[in-house]
Amino acid sequence: MKKLEMLYEGKAKKVYTTDVEDVYIVDYKDDATAFNGLKKGTISGKGVINNKMTNHIFKILEEAGVPTHLVEELSDRETAVKKVEIVPLEVIVRNVSAGSFAKKLGMEEGKKLIAPTLEFSYKNDDLGDPMINDYYAIAIGIATREEIERITELVFKVNEVLIEYFAGHGIDLIDFKVEFGRYKGGIILADEISPDTCRLWDSNTHDKLDKDRFRRDLGNVEDAYMEVAKRLGIK
Ligand code: C5P
Repeated sequence: MKKLEMLYEGKAKKVYTTDVEDVYIVDYKDDATAFNGLKKGTISGKGVINNKMTNHIFKILEEAGVPTHLVEELSDRETAVKKVEIVPLEVIVRNVSAGSFAKKLGMEEGKKLIAPTLEFSYKNDDLGDPMINDYYAIAIGIATREEIERITELVFKVNEVLIEYFAGHGIDLIDFKVEFGRYKGGIILADEISPDTCRLWDSNTHDKLDKDRFRRDLGNVEDAYMEVAKRLGIK
């Protein structure tokens, strides 16, 4: 498979068209940004870990019945994926209070929620990805009621599978963000699932093993990403 034209360069990935119909190549970078691009840096080796971890997790989710865009891993940083039309929603599930949720509600971080929550942000850099609800999404035409229902069903399934999977490796899944795409009339999981997009805490020490180490200048960022990869058996 050959990379043709670069279609898009995002904060953490580049996307290329290929010589295969309806297949794109995603190329993961080491660049890191936070706070809507205000904080910039590099996390050495992150691109390789995020590529491999996303593919590893997407395979587990496929086995559990969640359709994903994964076609095949091509190299340390490159993966062939199905060409989807991204639904411009950041879909966030939370199991434990942290981050913007804890701040907004004046809650301490680390409180287990009575039930998992779901929230949507409208993916729009100029607006700073504002939080919206399902009615907003439908009203402005970015998703249909049926799509929102399917996304809701799939993302809670992802949560259920990943809580158990991470727990088996001594990691608590605090919260995460995913994106979905339209593909052949249905909705499939796209984008990535990695320490960039999840809060992952050591189950015993509650040490942060995710991008909050970069966002909050906690140090040992690379070590935390490598620790997650090691625990999950990703080489
Ligand atoms: O910052 P906040 O608490 O809203 O983040 C919730 C979850 O969504 C975190 O796991 C964070 O890593 C992820 N997230 C993301 N990309 C964003 C915003 C949040 O991956 N643009």
